[in-house]
Amino acid sequence: MQMSKKTIIILLCVLTASHVVSVAQDSDMNRFIDALMSRMTLHEKIGQLNLPTGNEIVSGLATNDPLAELIRRQECGGFLNVKDPARIREYQRIVVEETDLKIPLLAGADIVHGYQTVFPIPLALSCSWDTTAVERMAHISAIEASAGGINWTYSPMVDICHDARWGRIAEGSGEDPYLGSKFAAAYVRGYQGDMSSGDNILSCMKHYALYGASEAGLDYNTVDMSRIRMFNEYFAPYQAAVDAGVGSVMTSFNVVDGVPATANRWLLNDVLRDSWHFDGFVVTDYNAIEEMDVRGVAKLPEASVLAFQAGTDMDMVSSGFLNHLEKAVADGKVKEEQIDSACRRILEAKYRLGLFDNPYRHCKPETASEVIYSPEHRAAAREIAAETFVLLKNSDNLLPLARKGKIALVGPMADAREQMCGMWALSCDPSKYRSLLESMRDAVGDSAEILYAKGSNIYLDSVMEAGAAAWRPLERGDNDRLLSEALAVAENADVIVAALGECAEMSGESVSRSSLDIPDAQSRLLKAMVATGKPVVLLLFTGRPLTLNWEVANVPAILDVWYGGSEAGDAIADVVFGDKTPAGKLTATFPRAVGQLPMAYNHLSTGRPDPEEGVFNHYQSNYLDVSTKPLFPFGYGLSYTKFDYSDLRLSNDVLSPDGKITATVTVTNTGNRDGIEIVQLYIRDCYASICRPVKELKAFRRVFLKKGECRDITFELTEKDLRFYNTDLQHVSEPGEFSIMIGPNSSDLICAKFTLTD
Ligand code: BGC
Repeated sequence: MQMSKKTIIILLCVLTASHVVSVAQDSDMNRFIDALMSRMTLHEKIGQLNLPTGNEIVSGLATNDPLAELIRRQECGGFLNVKDPARIREYQRIVVEETDLKIPLLAGADIVHGYQTVFPIPLALSCSWDTTAVERMAHISAIEASAGGINWTYSPMVDICHDARWGRIAEGSGEDPYLGSKFAAAYVRGYQGDMSSGDNILSCMKHYALYGASEAGLDYNTVDMSRIRMFNEYFAPYQAAVDAGVGSVMTSFNVVDGVPATANRWLLNDVLRDSWHFDGFVVTDYNAIEEMDVRGVAKLPEASVLAFQAGTDMDMVSSGFLNHLEKAVADGKVKEEQIDSACRRILEAKYRLGLFDNPYRHCKPETASEVIYSPEHRAAAREIAAETFVLLKNSDNLLPLARKGKIALVGPMADAREQMCGMWALSCDPSKYRSLLESMRDAVGDSAEILYAKGSNIYLDSVMEAGAAAWRPLERGDNDRLLSEALAVAENADVIVAALGECAEMSGESVSRSSLDIPDAQSRLLKAMVATGKPVVLLLFTGRPLTLNWEVANVPAILDVWYGGSEAGDAIADVVFGDKTPAGKLTATFPRAVGQLPMAYNHLSTGRPDPEEGVFNHYQSNYLDVSTKPLFPFGYGLSYTKFDYSDLRLSNDVLSPDGKITATVTVTNTGNRDGIEIVQLYIRDCYASICRPVKELKAFRRVFLKKGECRDITFELTEKDLRFYNTDLQHVSEPGEFSIMIGPNSSDLICAKFTLTD
């Protein structure tokens, strides 16, 4: 499309005008910060770089608490983990009324998937493939959190992960860098907006970098990776968050090239600032500087200097900066101008948040009760939760269930409100939420009867159970008695719904697993239910892909509901009874065996790829004892209706570097219901100077198709979409042959070819 001269002039005027406004705002900010910093001592500037935790203080207004003392002494730039809004307000009051500089505080917390209105865990959110929904959820989180005094969230977590043993896979958007980038930007937009309103909060992208590649899926473990892989497979979502304007970045716990990320100059300076032009501030992860001592890198005084020199601006929890940087300046190890730059970045964030105009901007007791957990937010959470569920199997269209007869609801997740929200729902209030049992009973009213039995604990094995209960005691009870109660209930029912899987405590930080099976007590319950011969629906609660071989072979219907948040009960009932049609698609591969991990759809080809599934071929890249294929591939998910793909055609079979190519496929809803299909486009660069993935997601579309409707879906690609990082880490495309593959998931694809010309 050609733009007219007039349009170009108008566009230039608009751009110039907005540039002038932002330059003027920046110069106001610079003047303000110059004046402020001219009144600050070195110690006070270093104070801004210190971020203590209020961990022990979650409510109440105690006097003389250590955090309040630090604030009075102007020895911190903010704090994290204080939940009580009144306490946060009190801290801002101390600053305003009792300090001479009156520098307001950053109030940080992990608002990761909602505040009191809790949304599904991020891995689930990514299965919606709905970036608009995620932006909306982040915006709602910001509205609620800011009403509770929080002005800074440690979200989004954008770490790519190929290994479901890692419990923190639950916190990210899965295994794909393209999809992960789209979500990274959506979170940032949702939290920060344009930073002009008191509803906007500062976002912190984490964990920079590569945390999701921890060896053996073990949390906090070593990461070792070639730079080419970092750039091609892991860095894109971090960069996307930066491009979206994220105001802060958190370092990761792991090493990168052998150096802790927190002290990695290449990572923080060369890549993040010089190459990606990040202009916000960098904060460490929790106590990461002090942990450099245990790692055998340096004791705290020197570790503080190393982290600071590498590009870290703010020290979360270790107090190393506060206690050692002043001496480092005196000893000539750190220049005062460097402290000035770090301090300035933090003051800029506060300025952009509007805190200097009004330190209480994010403390809104007057409106808190109206906005927090409002009917509107709850409706959004219910709607979004239903979008995240993934239908893994549905033999004979067992789902949706009719609202009739007797339905046995069994399993330890069935009547467990506190289990619905998963990890990182720090401000959740389960007493306000409904359990699945309550929601299902409500959904059927008098038309059907929901019988209930818990059926089992989480584990039979008490050691495993103690592990799962590390941060919250789990309800216990006699497993044999629970099982016989469930059998008695099932006996009377027409259909059985088993709500089980992992409990919330089994995913998130520091909960790696070596087995990805459903815990023993629940597996025993499920097998007993299937053995009754009645139809069984498994509602799978989980924070990660699980190895569901027996389940897939024996349970007729499986709906993965993850941890769906405060409205999960109602959202699940909506889908189970067919008021909503599931449309979610997996964003992390489900393996058949833990031994296949790490595993992702976008792997490189070996020189000896597995020629045929299910048959062992000597001297080929395959396992003796398990297929090389996943149980469920990336992008997989069923619907209550069916979609047919046909007639893939390209606009041309050559693409010139300044041209474009369109790929069109016809998608038909051939089933009996309206539904949403997520149409996915992958490419393969057939020959290149480095090995390229067998498939790479490059585009997708969520399409609503009415029953019987048939639509052409068109994607457009340009040379830019074909770029990758070569051995010199230049972002280039190389002429030659490419495949375009379109389909409902990363396995079932129809293919066409084109050539990129010089
Ligand atoms: C986690 C971060 C989190 C921080 C603050 C750390 O242990 O790794 O993801 O933001 O704590 O709570």
